[in-house]
Amino acid sequence: MATRKILITGGAGFIGSHVVRRMVNRYSDYHIYNLDNLTYAGNLENLRDVELKPNYSFIKEDIVDGEKMQSLFQKHNFDGVIHLAAESHVDRSISNPMDFIMTNIVGTVSLLNAAKANWKNFDGKLFYHVSTDEVYGSLGEEGFFTEETKYDPHSPYSASKASSDHLVRAYHDTYGLPIKISNCSNNYGANHFPEKLIPLAIHNIKNSKPIPVYGMGENVRDWLYVEDHASAIDLIFHKGKVGDTYNIGGFNEWKNIDLIHLLCKIMDQKLRRAEGTSAKLITYVKDRAGHDLRYAIDATKLNKELGWKPSLQFEEGLEKTVDWYLSNEEWLNHVTSGNYKNYYTEQYEKR
Ligand code: NAD
Ligand code: DAU
Repeated sequence: MATRKILITGGAGFIGSHVVRRMVNRYSDYHIYNLDNLTYAGNLENLRDVELKPNYSFIKEDIVDGEKMQSLFQKHNFDGVIHLAAESHVDRSISNPMDFIMTNIVGTVSLLNAAKANWKNFDGKLFYHVSTDEVYGSLGEEGFFTEETKYDPHSPYSASKASSDHLVRAYHDTYGLPIKISNCSNNYGANHFPEKLIPLAIHNIKNSKPIPVYGMGENVRDWLYVEDHASAIDLIFHKGKVGDTYNIGGFNEWKNIDLIHLLCKIMDQKLRRAEGTSAKLITYVKDRAGHDLRYAIDATKLNKELGWKPSLQFEEGLEKTVDWYLSNEEWLNHVTSGNYKNYYTEQYEKR
């Protein structure tokens, strides 16, 4: 049987590295090409255990470079794309929107163009775009985001992801490009860059530094273990309907402040500190501009049509995550040295 060539973009990032690892390990008859330009969020240390596998290759390129994408598609004749490369952090999008426009919108279009131009006919081809629930905007106290919820993005990040979703659908409707899209809720787990709430709080608690909680900590997020997101992507890539959208989420809503209290409790136990020690670090800081109040995904379609459900309860996943960070000090030290310090000062010093 001929090898299936799959291009995964953003495979050195948080979610991408879990998707790459899963695909390389499960599908020895696929060749996985991981294309990533290694921004601050891309880290090949995330992939040490697969880098020598014969069905894995790494390509360091920028998806915004349209000519380069065309020549890579010509050279490798990929059968499928799982597109995860993106600028992903909302706070950075507030201070520097242009990077998000370039990578998330222009970069997505340059990949779509390369697929459209090089896939002679679309038989057996697939462009799978990985997106976020933030495109749907913000919920009040009640209700869920379904696949039919109208787009209403508020941050430059979510607006750029919404644009990319629309463009992927436009290439399907206009040119017949075979596509699938998934919109997922907040992920957590190993290899999460410590600019995001959970790894940032773990890092700060470990170092007895303040835990910055935006506003009053009343905002709600719906948390999913990253390996459950990777399993959903695998399932949708193989079994989902071409042209369709699938929402992915764990029916696991937490107010930020409640989540932080749970994390403090786990950290006190793991670090053998007296109960209540970590919670003393909680510091309320100026709110994020345009901060969405609540996200909650209705993942019924994915469950009913494809039989997916998350494998882990939140407390178990959070404990596994804490264990990973505590036993991967070197990883954490590497990613929090250098530019991270400047980022942290800019975001938090005057907050
Ligand atoms: P991340 O920031 O950890 O990783 C992004 C990766 O993309 C990095 O490896 C980076 O080097 C690479 N990249 C960025 N710009 C690039 C460019 N121009 N060319 C090539 N590579 C580039 O992001 P993540 O949290 O792993 O998110 C991955 C995808 O999943 C994104 O599309 C994001 O919108 C989506 N998503 C994330 C979450 C979440 O909770 N983190 C939830 C739902 C959807
Ligand atoms: O919903 C999916 C999205 O989840 C993804 O598309 C994004 O790529 C990902 O970054 C994430 O976005 P959030 O903005 O929800 O994640 P973040 O970890 O930045 O923040 C989670 C919540 O915690 C949010 O309400 C803001 C708050 N927060 C965040 C940080 C970094 C704090 O209170 N303090 C902080 O220091």
